[in-house]
Amino acid sequence: MERRACGRHDLKLPVLGLGCWAFGGGDYWGPVSQSVVNDVVCCAMDHGCNFFDTAEMYNQGASESSLGIALKGIPREKVLIGGKISPSNTEPGKLVEHCEASLRRLQTDYIDLYMVHWPITAHSIVHFTTESMSTPSVTEAFATLLELQAKDKVRHIGVSNFSAEKLDEAMATGAEIVANELPYSLLMRAIELEILPHCIKRGAGVIGYMALMQGILGKPYASVGEIPVMQRRTRHFDARQNSYCRHGLPGAEAETMAALAAIHRIAQAHGMTAAEISLKWAVAGNGVTTSLCGSCNVKNLERNLAAVLEPLPSDAIAELNDATQRAHIKK
Ligand SMILES: NC(=O)c1ccc[n+]([C@@H]2O[C@H](COP(=O)([O-])OP(=O)(O)OC[C@H]3O[C@@H](n4cnc5c(N)ncnc54)[C@H](OP(=O)(O)O)[C@@H]3O)[C@@H](O)[C@H]2O)c1
Repeated sequence: MERRACGRHDLKLPVLGLGCWAFGGGDYWGPVSQSVVNDVVCCAMDHGCNFFDTAEMYNQGASESSLGIALKGIPREKVLIGGKISPSNTEPGKLVEHCEASLRRLQTDYIDLYMVHWPITAHSIVHFTTESMSTPSVTEAFATLLELQAKDKVRHIGVSNFSAEKLDEAMATGAEIVANELPYSLLMRAIELEILPHCIKRGAGVIGYMALMQGILGKPYASVGEIPVMQRRTRHFDARQNSYCRHGLPGAEAETMAALAAIHRIAQAHGMTAAEISLKWAVAGNGVTTSLCGSCNVKNLERNLAAVLEPLPSDAIAELNDATQRAHIKK
């Protein structure tokens, strides 16, 4: 599998990484057995897809534990682990403790890329803890990450969901920010407007997440009502119809469904499935280093791994860009 450097840095990632959010099972994705996780991890490794993205927050640590079990027996140097610290745990003492706990769950001595999951702001923190707390200092948080790096507990430092301003603030602390993990799919192209070009300018890699828009791009949904409620929480959908939505806005459902129908039409015209063409588009060399897709199904994973081997013809890229432009702008 093709590998790309994270911006100006020496960390190289395969163009498709495995999203591990569902591992360990939980409220969001439902139960997932360890044997399924073992099989998908083994399948990914067999195909050169050795970047596994997890977070302490995913299923309250169960994603990390499950990944740790699945990686047992695989030589550590063959694997790249992406981990994330919750912004609510970035006060220095807590950060060290939480990093140690992640290492124990992952059964490893180091995390290859350790990212701050969301910006360290009061606005983000409320989504990670019910505890009332003051906002940790950004300077102290990144200084602590540098200490963890000096002790080789963390090989590279990264961020996730950081705006251009927040990325600059993190870089100003002196930490080398290797990558910014951001939402990116045919139905979520907002990063193209500012943060993606800014990451490129600042020499950071971009890890696109939710390449299949949580599975919406993998199925021929004909109406909004057919899409599972948990997958309808983004700004594309009307918050008034879904108590899981936090954005409180009317959404852009007509544009989203029109774009989805067009993606299916374009995929069919090029002899592909919507999932296949969406993944090919996500890794098409638009400044994104790697794209993350979650799967707990070996058949789907094999299809996804095969999809990214062959590039998407430029006419298909242009058609998809055009078809998703309205949903993109409306966001
Ligand atoms: N940094 C952040 O804030 C952040 C936020 C969200 C996600 N992430 C990361 O990004 C990863 C990927 O995002 P995600 O898992 O939320 O969403 P996703 O990758 O867009 O979609 C995952 C869903 O797609 C389905 N799927 C996979 N391959 C398929 C195929 N070929 N055909 C049809 N359906 C298919 C999976 O079902 P099966 O299991 O049945 O294959 C699963 O339900 C996460 O696991 C996580 O590591 C990071």
